[in-house]
Amino acid sequence: METSIVDVVIGMQYGDEGKGKIANQMAASGEYDYVIRFNGGGNAGHTIYLNGEKIVTHLVPCGVLHGIPSVIGNGCVINTQKLFDELAYLKGLGFDTTLLKIAENAHIITQDHIDEDSKDTTIGTTRTGNGPCYKDKVGRTGLRAKDIPELEPYLVDMYTLIHSSPKKFLAEGAQGYWLDIDFGDYPYVTSSNTGVGAVLNNGFNYKQVRNVIGVIKCYSTYVGAKGYQKSDERFEQLREIGQEYGATTGRPRQIDWLDLDEVNEACKMNGVDFLIVNKMDVLRQVDSAWNLYEDQIIVSCSDENTFMNCIAKYLDPSIDIEFQGQLH
Ligand code: IMP
Ligand code: MG
Repeated sequence: METSIVDVVIGMQYGDEGKGKIANQMAASGEYDYVIRFNGGGNAGHTIYLNGEKIVTHLVPCGVLHGIPSVIGNGCVINTQKLFDELAYLKGLGFDTTLLKIAENAHIITQDHIDEDSKDTTIGTTRTGNGPCYKDKVGRTGLRAKDIPELEPYLVDMYTLIHSSPKKFLAEGAQGYWLDIDFGDYPYVTSSNTGVGAVLNNGFNYKQVRNVIGVIKCYSTYVGAKGYQKSDERFEQLREIGQEYGATTGRPRQIDWLDLDEVNEACKMNGVDFLIVNKMDVLRQVDSAWNLYEDQIIVSCSDENTFMNCIAKYLDPSIDIEFQGQLH
């Protein structure tokens, strides 16, 4: 290996696909030297079960839970108070939080950003200051990690980190491809790019991307202001069985059937090699729920096998698909 490589985990829906669980499994493999978060900030919530314990992180990459040095990349935005709270929480659970590094050019969320975001009534944001912070970044008026004395001990330069010697990186995305600022359902999107391109903008070159792992749930969920869920009692059941409430805000997630055109497009746009389909055990618990959309038409599959075949047939045959339950 003459150069660093990066494997990338990306959500192919609207976030909450179970990326945290997959990144956690991959970090546990022992294959990676570093884990990096490449977009988003405290708006994200990653739920991980480790040795039976539920752990929710927002900013700190899952590598810290496995003794792997981990980086909050420059594509992220950081609320320093929340970061220190999260580090204290993880330290209290016995994890070595000195493994955390922060890109010196990551942007900082201020109280003004949070105040501005808290006035949002149209998008249904997480009110964490995410959008206003990215607005200042692009407007060239933002504060960066290297401007904050308390962050000095954590700072890294992404060029040196990635290119000074070959290392294996695992990059865990936040949100999902359909919340992407460019390709999502604007304006009902987050304020960062959520796809594989965002990884390159954290200092990797395109040749270094090795595998792209797309993650979906076997049904769709969305949290935000637009009307998304149609009236169907089975969606209410799915919400309760799948515990579809926001990890950051506790808001109920709106639910719909899996949309194969959405997944297919996200796979193509991100060059997905492996696709994980999560929460099969949840869909199994609801009667007559093996449904999905093909070309905006609901296809009702007779059973689980037919459902799995439908997915496989719709996507590029070169994609390796794995079906999983909520926890495994
Ligand atoms: P913001 O990212 O807080 O600006 O919120 C913009 C939109 O993205 C809203 O619809 C949020 O509910 C959604 N969103 C942001 N982060 C997440 C996430 O981690 N999971 C699911 N939805 C999210
Ligand atoms: Mg989430």
